[in-house]
Amino acid sequence: MLSVLDFKKMKANQDKITMVTSYDYPSAKQAEQAGIDTILVGDSLGMVVLGYSSTVEVKVNDMIHHAKAVKRGAPNTFTVVDMPFMSYHISLEDSLRNATKLFQETNAQSLKIEGASLEILHFMERLTESGIPVTAHLGLTPQSVNVLGGFKVQGKDKAAAKQLLEDAKQVAEHGAVALVLECVPRELAEIITATVDIPTIGIGAGPECDGQVLVYHDIMKYGIERLPKFVKPYTDFNTEGINALKSYISEVKQVSFPADEQSFHIKDKDYLPISE
Ligand code: KIV
Ligand code: NA
Repeated sequence: MLSVLDFKKMKANQDKITMVTSYDYPSAKQAEQAGIDTILVGDSLGMVVLGYSSTVEVKVNDMIHHAKAVKRGAPNTFTVVDMPFMSYHISLEDSLRNATKLFQETNAQSLKIEGASLEILHFMERLTESGIPVTAHLGLTPQSVNVLGGFKVQGKDKAAAKQLLEDAKQVAEHGAVALVLECVPRELAEIITATVDIPTIGIGAGPECDGQVLVYHDIMKYGIERLPKFVKPYTDFNTEGINALKSYISEVKQVSFPADEQSFHIKDKDYLPISE
């Protein structure tokens, strides 16, 4: 399994870090078999596999349930687990308790938290000194979607760009081992990447980031109807999956499935019970 030191080396060597989300056993197995560098059990699972309209509805126990399945499928891949909405805001004690639970019960390698307020920075430091590596997340932070007023590109004016760069420096200074940058103009992400000594992992943040992350279901075009601009789908499982199901339905109706190949036989016909 790669370590936080490997990710730093990869940044230094300009060897791009690959990350994909995973929420279950089969996709985690695929990711590990494909040779992904790191997996994110994102709270996007709320929208992607549970059908919620934002990540705000996701709870700590949802994250644990899914992360455990992911770790069973990818035991040898560095896995980051999101701390969900409001699980690290009520008090430092409550936040530390939630982090302990998430980290211990899931066997994760890092926890991800959004933002860079003074409280978040302090929490980041406490986690780091307790031995929990933190992945930071700046730019579009979906848990604050209702405050931001929608899923929009961040850091677009001078003041916002300056603040984002400052926040990035702060999270790096407070122990974050990596920084996810979501929906940030490419030019700004490039400056942030060149400024901080921790790897940046972009999603909608351009090719200059040290790594990239995408949602598994976006890559596969699976269950997602409208893909955001920053996504490139690599297959179309919506179409493939529906076609497979249509073929199955039609073959059952036509009695061409199951065929003899999929059937079992009895050798000695004398064993067969004869109905009277
Ligand atoms: O939950 C998630 O999938 C994420 C990525 C978009 C970075 O946080
Ligand atoms: Na997330």
